[in-house]
Amino acid sequence: MTRETSARVPAVRLTHVSKSFPGVAAVDDVSLDIDPGEVHVFAGENGAGKSTLMKLVAQVEEPTSGTIELHGTPMTYRGPGHAREFGVAMVHQEFALAPDLTVAENLFIGGEPGRGGWISRARERRDARELLSRVGADLDPGRRVAQLSTAEQQRVELAKALAVDARVLILDEPTATLTRQQADELFAIIRQLTASGIAVLYISHRLDEIFEIGDRVTVMRDGAVVATRPASELDEDALVALMVGRNVDNLYPREHTSPGPVRLQVRNLTRRDVVHDVSFDVRGGEILGMAGLVGAGRTEVARMVFGAEPPDSGSVTLDGRTVRIRRPSDAIDAGIGYLTESRKTDGLALQLGVDKNITMAKLPMWNGLINLREERSVAGRHRDRLGIRVPWVGRPVQALSGGNQQKVVLARWLETQAEVLLFDEPGRGMDVGAKADMFREMDRLAGDGKAVVFISSYLPELLNMCDRILVMRGGRVAGELAKEEFSEERVIALATGAKDNHD
Ligand SMILES: Nc1ncnc2c1ncn2[C@@H]1O[C@H](COP(=O)(O)OP(=O)(O)OP(=O)(O)O)[C@@H](O)[C@H]1O
Ligand SMILES: [Mg+2]
Repeated sequence: MTRETSARVPAVRLTHVSKSFPGVAAVDDVSLDIDPGEVHVFAGENGAGKSTLMKLVAQVEEPTSGTIELHGTPMTYRGPGHAREFGVAMVHQEFALAPDLTVAENLFIGGEPGRGGWISRARERRDARELLSRVGADLDPGRRVAQLSTAEQQRVELAKALAVDARVLILDEPTATLTRQQADELFAIIRQLTASGIAVLYISHRLDEIFEIGDRVTVMRDGAVVATRPASELDEDALVALMVGRNVDNLYPREHTSPGPVRLQVRNLTRRDVVHDVSFDVRGGEILGMAGLVGAGRTEVARMVFGAEPPDSGSVTLDGRTVRIRRPSDAIDAGIGYLTESRKTDGLALQLGVDKNITMAKLPMWNGLINLREERSVAGRHRDRLGIRVPWVGRPVQALSGGNQQKVVLARWLETQAEVLLFDEPGRGMDVGAKADMFREMDRLAGDGKAVVFISSYLPELLNMCDRILVMRGGRVAGELAKEEFSEERVIALATGAKDNHD
């Protein structure tokens, strides 16, 4: 960095900033400068305080103490609209789009600065298209947000953030459900933005990308800053050690690998326009990976097997018996569990406690009788095993950090009696240590003879945890790889339809 740039006014200056919630010091005495044009990564375990710190900068939350300056001006707390006037835009970890409105309506909710009063539909659509193309999204602005995939919603969020003239852009785990290719597209956008002087505050749990996109890294633990370093001075091991305060020597524990007889058999599953003639088997003790680009149909297959969506044709066989699954309760009764990719819409009951959320999937088997003591002890066990950070298990899930919410969803499915488990992006938002815990649990399920389907957009997890990988493209099975054939290149070649040099 030249002398000139380092002498510039910081885009964001935090001085002794703290934020507490009842019983938790979420952010603890943070002092930090963020320069214009840098990508400043925030890393740390689930519950370390990253999202809360970002919300303070965006004035979504009011600090308990300390001062925040934006471009040299000290901020008094007046809510997010005020921060927006200073060019702060934030894409939240949990998307905040209105599901029943269209893409265009979502983009212009509350109006863009300088855009007065009534605007025509046509004009709105045209502007929406332009914004969407800036973030590389070829989407119909007239579609309802509820119909979009997670990755598409993420693009809309990003476009929405850029609808204001952003000078400080906050991205809270933007790549959590993106494929490698989509992440690369996002990075290209980020590089354009920083080149024009925008400061990007970027939260991520994906270690590789932290080094790829980050200029500096701030590691948080228990609300405090542990270290701020240039990314070039760190490597993955050093970063993990800073984050968790210990070495995580085995990220991908996989011990049980002796698949038994076929348990789940899916044949010719078809649903018009989305899934075509999909067939596969999963053995007991096996973890079958499902790779593919977003929109390849992986989630749709899982939803149909689980009865959340009806197939037009096709069959599901469990332990040799054909089962008729018309709704999720049929699937649960048959012994099939599905951890959905979107915990907010159909995963968690946010107002209910951690304990209730964990035991929920098991409840139908209790014939209406809920044993509260059992419920609490089950929840306590999972809290300890997965390191769910919560002062007491009756606490509403909405007070938990994103990664800790995801652990609650996972715990629920670990607790079911299900013999076949479909995990759709289960590690979304979890820190490295928590993921290692999760993989150990998945391995244990396989060891117990269950059949596990593991959908993930993050290839290293699939390559390390699975026995076989099914690659989908355009709603069809594009190919299947046995463990000996695993490589990132091969999966990508199948997923994109590109020829690779193995053929
Ligand atoms: N609205 C709230 N009410 C009570 N506690 C909260 C609230 N928001 C956050 N917390 C607590 O503050 C702490 C920090 O949470 P935060 O969401 O900032 O973590 P994070 O670093 O973003 O974690 P993750 O990686 O899981 O997203 C956690 O203990 C969390 O439970
Ligand atoms: Mg967070």
